[in-house]
Amino acid sequence: MKKIAFSMESIRKQLRRYAPPIYVVKQTVGEDGVDGRIVSYVDKMSHIAEQYKVLRTNLISLSPVKPVSTIVITSSHAWEGKTVTSCNLAVTLSLDKEKKTLLVDADLRKPGVHSMFGLSREPGFSDVLSDFIGVEKFLAKPAIENLYVIPAGSLVDDPSELLSLGKVETLLNRLKSEFDYIILDTPPVLEFTDASILGSFCDAVILAIKAGSTQKEAIEEAFNLLEEAKAKPKACILTNVQVALDAHYYFYKYKSAAPAGKR
Ligand SMILES: Nc1ncnc2c1ncn2[C@@H]1O[C@H](COP(=O)(O)OP(=O)(O)OP(=O)(O)O)[C@@H](O)[C@H]1O
Ligand SMILES: [Mg+2]
Repeated sequence: MKKIAFSMESIRKQLRRYAPPIYVVKQTVGEDGVDGRIVSYVDKMSHIAEQYKVLRTNLISLSPVKPVSTIVITSSHAWEGKTVTSCNLAVTLSLDKEKKTLLVDADLRKPGVHSMFGLSREPGFSDVLSDFIGVEKFLAKPAIENLYVIPAGSLVDDPSELLSLGKVETLLNRLKSEFDYIILDTPPVLEFTDASILGSFCDAVILAIKAGSTQKEAIEEAFNLLEEAKAKPKACILTNVQVALDAHYYFYKYKSAAPAGKR
């Protein structure tokens, strides 16, 4: 029987401490190609964008001495909010103009980052792994200032095999020398080994948990698989949470959005 390294109580504590409830509603595409679900860009003053800032602060405070710079986003199963979380977190980190942020679509099975920013899927991550010369030519530039993206790239038959060839660590080290934050969107950890492999080379793994859907056994299993692979599951993020906002919130938002002289 598999060892349960994380009790539900410790996961609940993590959720209370690190997981801001985040609910995304819009699915439109702007003129600059950016998907409306990237709320951190399209609705910067919103309650949701604020929650991503909370996530950023929590991540930075995880290890003040040696700040996390490479972060894998995964989930237990498919469709639990990995891509939306990866994009919003990357945009939020890119708000710090003194740091350089890179978002990598390392989900070579169901790549989605390129369409969130209106970019082409190729060339990208799978291509970089077979050609180290000039990472620059694989970097895509979305409409968002100070953010760089490496899309998924050409489709490959066996992504786990490609990730196991030992090139990932070399590539990540190279990227780390150029970027302060690197976010990697990955496939679900209970279905593929990709997130565990990538997580073992990164500083932290964040597990997206879909409210009302992800089962606690799946969360435990995901944590265990990551730990066994020497990945570092550091935090959870709760997606699909429906929050009832009271009048105070609307007043507060109005106040923040008003011109300085009229407050
Ligand atoms: N925080 C959120 N709150 C509510 N809905 C969300 C949230 N994040 C994502 N969603 C919605 O959930 C669905 C899945 O999101 P997303 O594509 O990010 O998941 P995923 O885990 O990357 O899926 P896949 O496993 O297919 O790659 C989408 O319809 C998206 O709009
Ligand atoms: Mg996805």
